[in-house]
Amino acid sequence: MIDFCDLSLPQATEESIWKKCRNLVRQNGYVLSKEVDDFENDFARFCEANHCLGVATGCDALMWAMEGLGIGRGDEVITVANTFIGTVLPIIRVGATPVLVDCDPKTQQIDPDQVASAITPRTSAIVPVHLYGRLAPMDELLRLCNKNGLVLLEDAAQAHGARYKGKRAGSMGHASGFSFYPAKNLGAWGDGGAMVTSDTSLYEKVKKIRNYGQEKKYFHSQIGWNSRLDSLQAIVLAEKLLLLDQWNERRRSIASRYYDILSDTEVSLYHESPENEPVHHLFVVTHKNRDLIQSKLNSQGIATGIHYPVPIHKHKCFANEPFAKDGCFPHAEAQSAQLLSLPMHPNMTISEVEKVFQCLKAI
Ligand SMILES: Cc1ncc(COP(=O)(O)O)c(C=O)c1O
Repeated sequence: MIDFCDLSLPQATEESIWKKCRNLVRQNGYVLSKEVDDFENDFARFCEANHCLGVATGCDALMWAMEGLGIGRGDEVITVANTFIGTVLPIIRVGATPVLVDCDPKTQQIDPDQVASAITPRTSAIVPVHLYGRLAPMDELLRLCNKNGLVLLEDAAQAHGARYKGKRAGSMGHASGFSFYPAKNLGAWGDGGAMVTSDTSLYEKVKKIRNYGQEKKYFHSQIGWNSRLDSLQAIVLAEKLLLLDQWNERRRSIASRYYDILSDTEVSLYHESPENEPVHHLFVVTHKNRDLIQSKLNSQGIATGIHYPVPIHKHKCFANEPFAKDGCFPHAEAQSAQLLSLPMHPNMTISEVEKVFQCLKAI
């Protein structure tokens, strides 16, 4: 059996987490304690940005960033059709209109030419997604934002630690949203998220929003919400953050082995641009007989995934949205029928990678 993802931790890390959690429970420090501040400082430093705010989920991080930046009713926000729904729901929840564009089939990333064509006088922001732990084409997107006075909000939910021309994911736009869903490269023991920014006024606004809009306890100067990262999760995340660079390096070695050996099979691999230092949250290949390959791998004990089987514009929940037209985003549609995520996690061995290759080759 080869797992798709393995969340087990080194024993010393797990023991350290339990010890710190026990201490926290004895002190009743469950909400917005020093542990949350400490993790926020550590993660901001890791992202090479000035501020980080722990919130309840990655969706919330994107939503509060937009709210804090004044994006809402009447605004259009451009994002990509081949992403997880968690990119799009926050746009809708703040009252803005999502405008979808297609991906570049070679990289699977948002296509900047299409973004340029989608800009209108109502556009207020671009939300690129660093899909699968590989950075979106940031130079082109930042140029478009600067030229048109737009906000760039990075969906970095899958890209903790990735770099683009040496800069960390989450440090290049006005703000970014990270998810700490357990299977992410940096995952909590439950849900969690963070907004990262170097804009101090945005940081101050979102700090209030996530905590009932409180100025100080029981004094509310703003309509906020309750969306805080739990202290217990902050302990887990701070301990795991110590290992993240090492884990990402391991993912890169596994990906590099996959690239070497899979070139000898019929599956297609995405083009990696040289400015990208990805963190391979997922390792995705494509093939026209994807379903057959997946079921054969499965019967041989090799677990796989599909990220994602339905592009955004084809979900039932968006049936009444103006972007919900069949055939509008041909690359996103074609990819969703062909892509397959192979096992990828830092505990995977090179002999497991080779076993996946042998099975694929036989198929
Ligand atoms: C690309 C992307 N955006 C947003 C999200 C939303 O994050 P969360 O599930 O923590 O709300 C996810 C999470 O899976 C994601 O993969």
